[in-house]
Parts: sequence; C-alpha cells; structure tokens
Amino acid sequence: MSRVLVTGGAGFLGSHLSDKLLNDGHDVLVADNFFTGSKENDQHLSQNSRFKIMRHDVTFPLYVEVDQIYNLACPASPIHYQRDPVQTTKTSVHGAINMLGLAKRVGAKILQASTSEVYGDPEVHPQPESYWGRVNPSGIRSCYDEGKRCAETLFFDYRRQHNLRIKVVRIFNTYGPRMHPNDGRVVSNFIVQALRGKNISIYGDGSQTRSFCYVDDLIAAMTSAMDTSDGFTGPVNIGNPSEFTMLELAEMVLRLTQSKSAITFSPLPQDDPKQRKPDITLAQNSLNWQPKVGLEDGLRETISYFKSKLL
Ligand SMILES: NC(=O)c1ccc[n+]([C@@H]2O[C@H](COP(=O)([O-])OP(=O)(O)OC[C@H]3O[C@@H](n4cnc5c(N)ncnc54)[C@H](O)[C@@H]3O)[C@@H](O)[C@H]2O)c1
Repeated sequence: MSRVLVTGGAGFLGSHLSDKLLNDGHDVLVADNFFTGSKENDQHLSQNSRFKIMRHDVTFPLYVEVDQIYNLACPASPIHYQRDPVQTTKTSVHGAINMLGLAKRVGAKILQASTSEVYGDPEVHPQPESYWGRVNPSGIRSCYDEGKRCAETLFFDYRRQHNLRIKVVRIFNTYGPRMHPNDGRVVSNFIVQALRGKNISIYGDGSQTRSFCYVDDLIAAMTSAMDTSDGFTGPVNIGNPSEFTMLELAEMVLRLTQSKSAITFSPLPQDDPKQRKPDITLAQNSLNWQPKVGLEDGLRETISYFKSKLL
C-alpha cells in the first residue's frame, strides 16, 4: 500500500479520488488551498486515521514523503478559473513544477489531471491523443488551456530529462455529486436551475454537443492509469464518448427533476467549443477501461445529491 498525495483533494474529483484510494487501502494526504474546494467534501473522511488534509497552495514547494502524487489542484470551471487568471496559470505551471520537483526528490510516481481543453476548439472529431489542438493563446480561456498545455510539456520534459515516472490523463467533461452548485458548469447549472424552478439557460441554439462522464467511471480510469507499467505515460483521454446536444441534456434534466422550468437561449460565450468528444481507443486498450454509467443513471445520482443540498 502507498502513501498518496492528492493535490486539489478537497474539490469535486479529488474528494472522490480520495474515497477510492482509501477504499483500496492507501494512505491519503490532501493538499488544497480551498479556492474552489471545501473541507465539507472530505468531511466524511475526517475520522479515518489513514486520511489527512492540509491547507497548501501548490504554487509553493511542498516537502512531504509520498510514493504517488495525483496533481489535480486547479479550478476547473470557467467562472472560477477566469476570476484570477494569473493565479490559474501559476497554479498549473508553478504547481506542476513544484509537484514534479517533489516527485523527483522522493522518487514518487506522478499523475497530471490534464484536460480536453488542450484540444481547444477542435477541427478533428472525435479527438484522439495524437491531435495537437486548436487553442487561442490570448483569449479569456487561455489561462486554463495554455496553463494545462504547459503543465503537460513540463511532465514530458521531466520524463525525458530526469526519467520521472509520469502519467498524463486528459479528462473530458465529468459530472456527479459534490460538483460546486454555482460554478456554471452545464450539468450542475441545469440541475440547480431546474430544482429551483428557474429558467434553464442554454448558450447558443442548443445544438452544440458535449459528452459527459460520470465521476465513478472517471476515477476508475485515473487509478488504472496510475497503476500502468512505467513505460506507459499517456497522454490518454478519459471520458464518455456518448454525445448529447445541450437541448437534449436540458430536456433530460427537466424530465428527471419533474421541473416546470422553461428553457431560454442566450449568446454563446467567447471561444466556446462547438463540439467535444473523446476518442477513448487508447484508454480501452491500455487501461482495459470503458465507461459504464449512462447519462440518465448518472444524472439521477447527481440530482439526488443536489436535492439534499438545496432543498
Ligand atoms: N471536472 C471536470 O470535468 C474536469 C475536466 C477536465 C479536467 N479537470 C481537471 O481535474 C482537476 C479537478 O477538477 P474538479 O472538477 O475537481 O475541480 P474543483 O474546482 O472542484 O477542484 C479543484 C481543487 O483544486 C484546488 N486548488 C485550486 N488552486 C489551488 C492551488 N493553487 N493550490 C492548491 N489547491 C488548489 C481547489 O480548492 C479545489 O479543491 C482540475 O485540475 C481540472 O482542471 C476536470
């Protein structure tokens, strides 16, 4: 069993990852500055003697003894990462340098939570890992997209230069319980609006598509990626390739919440990609993984979480 550091472990994905790692018998240390995460997400773990949480900002070096590092620290939703864009880039870039430095010092294996945003507004559909992306380097999303791209560069340079054991996973839209209710991500937005009886606001005409992965599927793939042999580095896409239009998603949420909310349309935000869908062939072959939870089942779990929080 290993001592595992999870940066960003008080956030949505990090808290589920901590659950899984503890269940698998590991010791877990969470380092988080609580920018978007909260202690409440890990509250149920507070009595577990194998779990520890510390306030730490990854833009500063960290000195701890661990065997594995999952580097998740970074606000993931546009509302949050655009609030302090300079800090967002610092979190990705300085955070990667600090965590890679730590991995090098203690000989730990390290996994980077990268993102489908490295593909930008893609001309290739679905996106395989070999596609280099189409990213605006100076727009309002660039602090996140380019920060994550630079972090990937650093991971691969630490591999080439220092022979570090690295894994890079590119996460596509993931949803589930413990998402932040006000972070503007489409699934949480629609559910919260429906449960509150407010209009469901679709950007654009609702024909743009997204694919949505349920959190349990994502976490299973992440830990499988960490457990691959040292020769496997990724980058590897993780996501659910089933595509839905925003209009289909809104209608499904209305049906499952039995909400009377109306659907409204407003202009698309700047640089919003029109389509995003992972090619998961590599994950299927190298991680022996495939998403199992369909959108409707995953939405039911997520809706019941938000009901318990909001009502
Ligand atoms: N959820 C998704 O659909 C998705 C998609 C692609 C990539 N990702 C990546 O996965 C990771 C986790 O995303 P999430 O959805 O759980 O987001 P989240 O905002 O819920 O979690 C991010 C966590 O990082 C912490 N954090 C932010 N800046 C920090 C810093 N400087 N130092 C220490 N901690 C810091 C936050 O407080 C929070 O707990 C992120 O790196 C994100 O880019 C998520």
